[in-house]
Amino acid sequence: MKKCILILSFLVAIFALTELSAQNTIQSYENNTVNKKFILLPVKTGAAKTWITVNVDGVWQHEFEIELAPENPDFYATLEVGQWKGKKLELTAETVVPGSKWLSLIKTSDQMSDESLVYKEEYRPQFHFAPRRGWTNDPNGLVYYNGTYHLFFQHNPYGTSWGNMTWGHAVSNDLLHWNEMPDAVIPDKNGVVFSGSAVVDWNNTSGLQTSPVKDNAGKITNPPLVAFYTSTFANRGKGKSAQSMVYSVDEGKNWIKYPGNPVIPHIIADNRDPKVFWFDDKQNPNNSHWTMALYMDGEDYALFSSKNLIQWEKICDIKNLGCSECPDMFELPVDGNMQHSRWVFWGGNGKYLIGNFDGKEFKIESGPFTTKYGGNDYAAQSYSDIPGTDGRRIQFSWMAGGEYPKMPFNQQFTSPRNLTLRTTPDGIRLCMEPVKEIEKLRLPDPIKLSASVNGLTNPIQLPNLKGELLDIEILFDLKSYNAADTNLVLKTEIFGQEISYRPGTQIISLAAIKAPLVPVNNTIKLRLLVDRTSIELFANNGVIQIAACFVNKAKDPPGLTIAGNKGLADVTIEAYQLKSVWEK
Ligand code: FRU
Repeated sequence: MKKCILILSFLVAIFALTELSAQNTIQSYENNTVNKKFILLPVKTGAAKTWITVNVDGVWQHEFEIELAPENPDFYATLEVGQWKGKKLELTAETVVPGSKWLSLIKTSDQMSDESLVYKEEYRPQFHFAPRRGWTNDPNGLVYYNGTYHLFFQHNPYGTSWGNMTWGHAVSNDLLHWNEMPDAVIPDKNGVVFSGSAVVDWNNTSGLQTSPVKDNAGKITNPPLVAFYTSTFANRGKGKSAQSMVYSVDEGKNWIKYPGNPVIPHIIADNRDPKVFWFDDKQNPNNSHWTMALYMDGEDYALFSSKNLIQWEKICDIKNLGCSECPDMFELPVDGNMQHSRWVFWGGNGKYLIGNFDGKEFKIESGPFTTKYGGNDYAAQSYSDIPGTDGRRIQFSWMAGGEYPKMPFNQQFTSPRNLTLRTTPDGIRLCMEPVKEIEKLRLPDPIKLSASVNGLTNPIQLPNLKGELLDIEILFDLKSYNAADTNLVLKTEIFGQEISYRPGTQIISLAAIKAPLVPVNNTIKLRLLVDRTSIELFANNGVIQIAACFVNKAKDPPGLTIAGNKGLADVTIEAYQLKSVWEK
């Protein structure tokens, strides 16, 4: 009997498949001479996926998977075609559902998709970066050049889930107001474009600037910007990973694929995520060279060295970091003193090692440690080429796993944060604080309050706290607390998200995420950045940090309550409303 049912279901499945393939057809948008910058493609999240192949004058360019809207698109995806002006463009969709109106829904435009709708969406972060349309995960290629912060990002331009990995591109001059540009690096015969980094090649060591201009002091005034990424999954997933290069000779506006790609062929497993920096050996300048940190396999990484960004050789292994993917590596002064510096080696989930680097070997001194706890925070990367006069190590991270119900974009980044090494009672540790630029978003007249917390039933409330974008500083003075009582708890609640501190166990929590936090001189200092879909908590000047996303489905009003179940703590609050970066 069982056998019969099996055979029957098999036959039904074959029948259904034949039906489907009989109905789904190949359809092309063809014989169109490109006369605008963009083709806007209709997308419906959840619609059947099809591959679309892009051919120009009959030559294959790239292909991607898309949930083509048969009608009523949720949003329009942007395909840049301006580089092919005057040429014949053909888009072939492999499996189009019967009756689909996608061909008549396609638009051509000189503007990117949904111009009048974008940044006005219900769950659009108001001072955090999220793509205009589509999916993002890791921040990539963070580089500063000539007054501009470049932010590249893992982008699926054609859907709101992971796929078609491409480097999106946005620029800013203050790390807060981003102007999204057309995608910078798109998939090709070597595969899709995974994570990586970018540098300014100040001395044109690569020779990629073929018309260098020098000033009177002999300094090149038009250095190339060079970016590294992992190309992988060529042939619809069959190809292996390798490290590739793109460069720009117009200050990062246009990116040219290096014709000799990949510059580092496949080594092992899914080795990926190159992070490149210049190792400047002050004592022995001849020993200065480019260094690449690369994720290898398991929990292992390796360092490579190069004089010209093109030929690379392996110099050492860094094993058992306790995490995988997305390395970063940088030198920082300890307590602000550059005579006393250490190197930090950082991995995908924020585990880091402290050590020394002589250009050949990374010698581990301590770690792995972490500053960031759980939550929505992964694959962080720090900026290259921040001028010495600024001197900061500025990092963005992906707020992995946030939810944005029914939105035409998906995922956001953390606030930009500054990393420092500080001596703590436990030794040298990495601290993380929001960059000072955030304070420029503060509206005047903060709400200030000093009071005593005594009892859960008698909470301190800030009913006048308005708005959904907040920057709040809270100082708890615990001197009257009986620290031995493990039941004591201090609670803060905002938009239904609870932050609590238990002096007895020295644990702080935001929503379900917990982190250890030792009071300093009997005080706990919290900084909260609250956006429409996220809260970031920095405690005691960033010795610990928690980033968490939330969806305010109940549309809870703002307002802050602070309460404690027993004993007494003095609390000082300064709460600012912030401006949206989308406000004109
Ligand atoms: C980390 C990661 C990287 C990879 C990229 C692909 O989130 O898996 O290792 O390059 O995402 O999107």
